[in-house]
Amino acid sequence: MNYDRQLMLNKIQIAPSLLSSDFSKLQSEVEKCNEAKADLLHIDIMDGHFVPNITIGPIVVAAIKPYSKLPLDCHLMIENPDKYIPDFAKAGADLISVHVEGNKHLHRTISMIKDYGIKAGVALNPATPLEYAYEIAEFVDFILLMSVNPGFGGQKFIPSFLRRCNTLRKFLDNNNLKNVEIEVDGGVKKDNLHEVLSAGANMIVSGSGLFSGNLFENVKEFQKIIANFNNKTTLV
Ligand code: DX5
Ligand code: ZN
Repeated sequence: MNYDRQLMLNKIQIAPSLLSSDFSKLQSEVEKCNEAKADLLHIDIMDGHFVPNITIGPIVVAAIKPYSKLPLDCHLMIENPDKYIPDFAKAGADLISVHVEGNKHLHRTISMIKDYGIKAGVALNPATPLEYAYEIAEFVDFILLMSVNPGFGGQKFIPSFLRRCNTLRKFLDNNNLKNVEIEVDGGVKKDNLHEVLSAGANMIVSGSGLFSGNLFENVKEFQKIIANFNNKTTLV
């Protein structure tokens, strides 16, 4: 399928996931992402309840904020996100995504994020039916489709993502929601980036794929693959 019309609306963005960085030197890791000219900084917030891991909270996001030239993309993998959204807003989040699983009042949560002037997204785990995103799609800026089970960096990409992303992109295109962006998160590397783009994702999160080895070189490689993809799809 040719996604050039969608790509004209939604720029493809590279979002290094800070989870794979060296937490003992967060400032310089954040600055590296600036210098590498990534587009977003993806920050994984885990509470040990929604997912079996604990990472960072709003205090650390606030500490990072002054050093980041990139918008902070906070992926909340936590129970009761409503309670913490004001704190993440104060900390400087530019985008916030919340999971649909277990969220009783999703529309209220999304409205709360938007009321702070923050871009709002919903996230779906790999086994969550896509239908969970359909009713909320017209109210969000982006939909995050997990391509691993949330909780840890460095996991293997789950290939069913490709089919799910394709179906979601078609749903958005057919429902006058071309502006809604699709974020992919988990196991994205140089060798599967092209198929992820072909499936219709345009916000590309990658942790181990960008932070292992040389971040600058890895971002450049990603950019090359994206340029190649854009050239091919606009020529079709
Ligand atoms: C997983 C996180 C991801 C993770 C991605 O729960 O949401 O953002 O950091 O890391 P990689 O790209 O290494 O799978
Ligand atoms: Zn994430």
